[in-house]
Amino acid sequence: MALKGRDLVSIRDLSPREITDLLSASRKMIPIAEGKKSSNALAGKIVAMAFFEPSTRTRLSFETAVQRLGGRCITIADSGISSMKKGESLYDTVRMLSSYSDAIVIRHPNEGAARLAADASDKPVINAGDGAGQHPTQALLDLATMREAFGTLAGLKVVLLGDLKYGRTVHSLAYALGILGAELVLASPPALRLPDESRSELDQLGVKITEEPDVSRAVRDADVLYVTRIQKERFPDEGEYRKVAGSYRIDASVLASAKPRLIVMHPLPRAGEIDPEVDRTPHAAYFREAFLAVPVRMALLTGVLGAKAG
Ligand code: NCD
Repeated sequence: MALKGRDLVSIRDLSPREITDLLSASRKMIPIAEGKKSSNALAGKIVAMAFFEPSTRTRLSFETAVQRLGGRCITIADSGISSMKKGESLYDTVRMLSSYSDAIVIRHPNEGAARLAADASDKPVINAGDGAGQHPTQALLDLATMREAFGTLAGLKVVLLGDLKYGRTVHSLAYALGILGAELVLASPPALRLPDESRSELDQLGVKITEEPDVSRAVRDADVLYVTRIQKERFPDEGEYRKVAGSYRIDASVLASAKPRLIVMHPLPRAGEIDPEVDRTPHAAYFREAFLAVPVRMALLTGVLGAKAG
């Protein structure tokens, strides 16, 4: 895989072949992620975690991935304690981090921040979420979850439910699913529809897309229901948020008409969109999805750092 030295800012930075190669590589990492096999693939490597926005899974799964592979992390996990609080620019911060580490993982509230970081750094930069922009590594682990459940991605019917406007995980995932031959069903409140640019890009790629705001109808012949949180923090106006808050919730009654093999996914955190009663059904795949973050991020880091897997 020719990922060595490359940035991952947008999911568009990867070809379909590179995505499927990463998914295959990540499968082999599962025993290491589970702690059943040891590896020193990243021995001697330092990965910087630059997180300027809240994160639990993304940062901790990246850190777990590095450490299970024998590497080390340096971390900014609170923008309030870095020198950006004193007025240092993101450019200067990243430029300096790139001289301390071998790769940088960045999360930032501003769309475009990861691109700026990639320009500032001479080491690989991985976007762990830039505002309402992209979250490409989440898309990879979402794809890994679907591929594990169904053995393939082409032909899957995937319902994307919720905040398709501000949800960066959806922006990356919809594109990836599209180029890998899945069919998309968009189910969102009217105010939170997928942005026009994303929709026309998918149309131009020839992706099969329908809109079905009625969730019970949308799930009827779906393989995957991908639920998202309304991204409260991205609304310019609290009043606009209140109009859509709580407008959908997945519970056993919504799933009553679903195929037995339907999987319910969610990048997490959930904030009321999935009733905990769904956790006990065979449909629930979101905790497996959260675990697969580790092997997928291992495969990616190994690739961009040019390390030997295993
Ligand atoms: C997502 C994010 O940060 O975009 N979380 C994650 O990385 N798993 C989704 C969200 O915050 O709703």
